[in-house]
Amino acid sequence: MDNSGRICIFGAGSVGCYLGGRLIAAGASVRLIGREAHARQLQSHGLTLTSLRGDVKKVRAEQIDFVVDNPQSAADAGLILVTVKSAATEQAARALAAVLKAGSTVISFQNGIDNAAVLQRLIPQCAVLAGMVPFNILSRGEGAFHQGSEGRLMVQRNPALTPHLAQFAAAGLPIEQRDDMPAVQRGKLLLNLNNAINALCGVPLKTELSQRNYRRCLAAAQREGLRLFKAAELAVAALTPVPARWLPFLLELPDTCFKLAANRMLAIDPLARSSMWEDLEVGRASEVDWLNGELVRLAANIGSQAPVNQQLLTLIRAAERGGRRDWSADELLAQLRSTS
Ligand SMILES: NC(=O)c1ccc[n+]([C@@H]2O[C@H](COP(=O)([O-])OP(=O)(O)OC[C@H]3O[C@@H](n4cnc5c(N)ncnc54)[C@H](OP(=O)(O)O)[C@@H]3O)[C@@H](O)[C@H]2O)c1
Repeated sequence: MDNSGRICIFGAGSVGCYLGGRLIAAGASVRLIGREAHARQLQSHGLTLTSLRGDVKKVRAEQIDFVVDNPQSAADAGLILVTVKSAATEQAARALAAVLKAGSTVISFQNGIDNAAVLQRLIPQCAVLAGMVPFNILSRGEGAFHQGSEGRLMVQRNPALTPHLAQFAAAGLPIEQRDDMPAVQRGKLLLNLNNAINALCGVPLKTELSQRNYRRCLAAAQREGLRLFKAAELAVAALTPVPARWLPFLLELPDTCFKLAANRMLAIDPLARSSMWEDLEVGRASEVDWLNGELVRLAANIGSQAPVNQQLLTLIRAAERGGRRDWSADELLAQLRSTS
């Protein structure tokens, strides 16, 4: 049987179940590969996919093809979406390299800068495309996944995407093909610097971004990132209605002005939190090394420093080791300012 039209999701957690579920609901042939806990959840409850727009898609358990921990079952798919966290990329790449046939296409729908390059280096027989998921997915348990913010998927332009574009559009996940994915990933990295701040503050994203001193923490981290990218002559794409270089100024506005100027940034589900917060909750290693750590490495490479992002990295690492506490906005800002 020719399964080259099949889409395989490798690493079916929050992003994978949401994207995969919407594609199944739109009639695509999808196989999810993930862990036992998700398999059990989906067998018992199916999938319920909701979004800020208020739409609800339901997928019955018998419509879901979920395979536990078996990369071999990705072998015959034409398109593979990699949705593992960055720490698991190398292992996923080695497992997929052993089974994928030449000519299949892999999309890394992961945060961070390097994941697609790692996958391409280890899976040379396939075209690996960098992708970007702009919205937040909240796992609500019992097979329910909620898209808590807005935005369009972006993927590196490639003719191999053409046969799949209509399926993604039908699933309500239109793909914007980009010629500047490295700049898009840097733009996303600047936004993802908030993941660490959100994980440290212990309140939902909307509550956090409504407080000026938390926004000042994010502004300081972003300003540092923008300075380093500029010094290294690396372009940054705008993923918000304003250019990336304006974001720190916008974030530092007083609360009432910020609410008026950035209402799209605050269009977030009131319960949504960063996935780094979820990582700390369940005691998993976070992606901080691939986000704030990326800027610390860039600074070292160009003979500069990144004290704000280094401090955020240090605080998250301490939280991962068990020294977790919720930082108030004033405390966190004072801590970051003491080092910069
Ligand atoms: N969640 C969001 O809101 C969001 C939004 C935009 C982008 N992203 C990015 O998308 C990526 C995925 O994030 P996520 O939140 O969906 O992560 P997640 O919920 O942790 O999902 C990844 C899943 O893949 C599983 N996995 C890892 N290695 C595997 C393997 N070899 N075989 C089978 N399953 C494997 C993980 O299991 P274990 O935990 O047991 O390893 C986990 O269940 C990250 O780069 C993240 O930054 C996330």
